[in-house]
Amino acid sequence: MSERQKLVAANWKMNGSLASNQPLIAEIVAGLGETSGSEVAVCPPFIYLSQIADSLQGSSVVLGAQNVSHLDAGAYTGETAVSMLKDFGCQYVIVGHSERRSLYAETDERVAEKFLQVVQSGLRPILCVGELLEEREAGETEDVIARQLDAVIELAGIENFSQAVVAYEPVWAIGTGKTATPEQAQQVHEFIRLRLARHDSDVADAIRILYGGSVKADNAEQLFNMADIDGGLIGGASLIAQDFLTICKA
Ligand code: 13P
Repeated sequence: MSERQKLVAANWKMNGSLASNQPLIAEIVAGLGETSGSEVAVCPPFIYLSQIADSLQGSSVVLGAQNVSHLDAGAYTGETAVSMLKDFGCQYVIVGHSERRSLYAETDERVAEKFLQVVQSGLRPILCVGELLEEREAGETEDVIARQLDAVIELAGIENFSQAVVAYEPVWAIGTGKTATPEQAQQVHEFIRLRLARHDSDVADAIRILYGGSVKADNAEQLFNMADIDGGLIGGASLIAQDFLTICKA
């Protein structure tokens, strides 16, 4: 099995302000200091990418975005192209977050187009997958995850997963305080790796699969100790510097 470097990514969602971002990012950068073998990424709202890029100068923390257009450029009011994210030094782009899928009607195909757009530009997508509560209760978790993954494999090709990250985010665990148990999460992470391995076992072995959904300072370590959990995608707890630092150190 390959040694996968852990990744902890902060998804700030639609939170923050010029005034509040500054102390938050400064405390995160200072708190991580010289630390650890884990990679840490911060994904602020688009409008603050420039501010956070400046704050990250000289630190090991990398920048990511929360979304991207599936198109290159043109008359697409309100959209942001991947070339623009590159301009500001983004290395990661979250695609297919469940809030994008449910609130902004992003289909599996649209998510696949965004994934392809990101890898073709040389950035790294963090592809989110995850089931709704009713899908879990109906025993459909694996079918849903398989459908979400397969749409991307079909359009982008398995070879493009070599620069990608997958995040398993059960929708029922996002922002609810209900975390998947380490065993529940591990089961789905293993399923994701096996699904990718059908196409390319080396890619599947090397890819990092993050868990997201109510990761907190007091449950991160247990989750991250599971064999197929390679870090986390953190929402609420990433807005509190000390909590986020504890998660990074887990
Ligand atoms: P919470 O950590 O707030 O549950 O959010 C998880 C998430 O959606 C990260 O992308």
